[in-house]
Amino acid sequence: MNLTLKIWRQKGPKDQGKMVDYKVSDISEHMSFLEMLDVLNEQLIEKGEEPVAFDHDCREGICGMCSLYINGEAHGPDRGVTTCQLHMRMFNDGDTIYIEPFRAKAFPIIKDLTVDRSAFDRIQHAGGYVSVNTSGNTQDANAIPIPKDDADKAFDAATCIGCGACVASCKNSSAMLYVSAKVSQFALLPQGQIEAKDRVLNMVNQMDLEGFGNCTNTGACEVECPKGISLENIARMNREFLKASIK
Ligand code: SF4
Ligand code: FES
Repeated sequence: MNLTLKIWRQKGPKDQGKMVDYKVSDISEHMSFLEMLDVLNEQLIEKGEEPVAFDHDCREGICGMCSLYINGEAHGPDRGVTTCQLHMRMFNDGDTIYIEPFRAKAFPIIKDLTVDRSAFDRIQHAGGYVSVNTSGNTQDANAIPIPKDDADKAFDAATCIGCGACVASCKNSSAMLYVSAKVSQFALLPQGQIEAKDRVLNMVNQMDLEGFGNCTNTGACEVECPKGISLENIARMNREFLKASIK
């Protein structure tokens, strides 16, 4: 298929960016979206032009690095997939495709389509862990009985890959879905109880310090999340936060 691409180009964090038009031809419907961008970049390099900078690593939906806003949707028009898992068969010959970076104050643009999502790392460092005594007397985790429903919900929350699509889709640039997934995966398990209060208070505090907006329960985050993280996690985090705030 032959396509017109309208891509956000920006030389650096302080430069003013703009949309630039490109044509790509003979794109296979079996290619992934990133492979299509690889074809464009090879063309640009052959012409001596600067290739388009975009983030990727695993290219199999695990690392959360690929972060494109495609035709006005984070990770594009398909559901439950990341940009690297998006296939060109979702588009038609002759289409014009708009490709932009994830936009949020807390995700500043580095170059072209790459943004700095280290704010997520700092939130994680504020409490997204359990401290484990490895003295040799540690209890075998498998010996602690956990209700199946809790284990399933904790596992579902733990599938969040930290891609940031929830932030990019939210009109308030809120990170509540991401943070609530990270809080929930521990809040549901006995191992997470010891640091539960500090965890939720510190992670929410760091989220606010990073400049993310507030949640107004619109639900765009849940719709665009490639891992199907549920809004139930936000409700759980709010309960955890309230419990931890009462002295
Ligand atoms: S909650 Fe979903 S959209 Fe948000 S960072 Fe996690 S996986 Fe990505
Ligand atoms: S490149 Fe790893 S999730 Fe897309």
